[in-house]
Amino acid sequence: MLYNRKIVIIGAGHVGTHCAAALSFQNICDEIVFIDKDEVKAKSQAMDLADSVCFLPSAPIIRTGDYRDCEDADIIVISAGVPRLPGQTRLDTLGASIECIKDVVDNLNKTDIKGIIITITNPADIIAYYVRKHTGLPKNRVFGTGTSLDTARTRRTVADLCKVDPHSVIGFAMGEHGDSSMVPFSHLTINGDAYDKFVKEHGDRCIDFSEEKVTECTHMRGMDIINGKGSTEFGIGAALADMAKAVLTNEHRVLPASVLLEGEYGQNNVNAGVPCIIGRNGIEEIIELKLTEEENKLFASSCDVIREHIKLEEK
Ligand code: LAC
Repeated sequence: MLYNRKIVIIGAGHVGTHCAAALSFQNICDEIVFIDKDEVKAKSQAMDLADSVCFLPSAPIIRTGDYRDCEDADIIVISAGVPRLPGQTRLDTLGASIECIKDVVDNLNKTDIKGIIITITNPADIIAYYVRKHTGLPKNRVFGTGTSLDTARTRRTVADLCKVDPHSVIGFAMGEHGDSSMVPFSHLTINGDAYDKFVKEHGDRCIDFSEEKVTECTHMRGMDIINGKGSTEFGIGAALADMAKAVLTNEHRVLPASVLLEGEYGQNNVNAGVPCIIGRNGIEEIIELKLTEEENKLFASSCDVIREHIKLEEK
C-alpha cells in the first residue's frame, strides 16, 4: 500500500524550519507543510528547503498550507511562539507564547485531527499541557518534546567528559524542559554499566567527570547557545525528527517526552518529561523508573515549578 507520511509544522521560524530540515534530510516523511502567520516568510522557507531536495536521497514535497492540511496529517508539530532572549528563562516566555498558542488551538479545534500533535513551543511542558487540555484530545496523541533535548545534552556532556561516543551513554533528563530538570544518575549507564563503575574503571579517561558538571551543562547549554547566536535550532530539530520517526515507523522506542502524568511518579495534573514508549499511536506507555529518594524529591520539585506556571496560566 502506498502511504504518504505527512507532517504539518505550525511556526516556520528557526525551530520549525530546522525540524523540517532534519525530517527531510533523514527521509522521515514524504510531505512537509508549513503554516505560519507570516505567509510570505513561510513560503520562502519552503522554497529554500525545497531547493535542497535534488541533493537528497528522497524527494519530499515541501510547501506551505493552511489548517485544512492538519486533517490528514500524521503529525502536527507546534513550534509557533516567541524567541527566548538572552537572560530570559523559558518560563519568562509563558504569557507571549500562550497568546500565539491560543490562536493555533482555536484553528486546530475547527479541524478534524486524526494524527498526533507534538508541541515544542516554550515553556514546553506548560504549552504541552495547554494544547492537550484545550484540544480535548487523548494524552497519548498530544505531548511535547519535553526533556528530549535536555537528555541529548546530558548524554553529550557525559560523552565529552568521559571521552566516549554519546550513543554509548544511556540516561535521561526528567521534569521540566528547563532550569529545574534533573538527571537520575542512578539510571545513567555507559556501555551498559552504571556510570560510576565506568568512571572508576576508566579513571584517566574520565578525569573531568562530575555529576555537578553534567547537571549544570544540561541546564545551561541552551542559554549558552542563545548568548552566542541568538537561537537554538539544530538540536531541537534533530530531537523532533527522532520523535517523529519513532511515531511514523511504529518503533516502540523509549524516548523522553512531556506527557500528562496521572499518578506516575506520584504526580498528577502536570506535564513533565519522562521516558515513554513511543510508536504509531504516540505515547504507548510511560516508563516509571525507580528513583532514589533524593531523585524523587528533585523530580517532584521540578513538577512543582511546572504546576505553578500551569496555575499562573489558568488564572
Ligand atoms: C532549547 C530550546 C529548544 O533548549 O528550549 O534549545
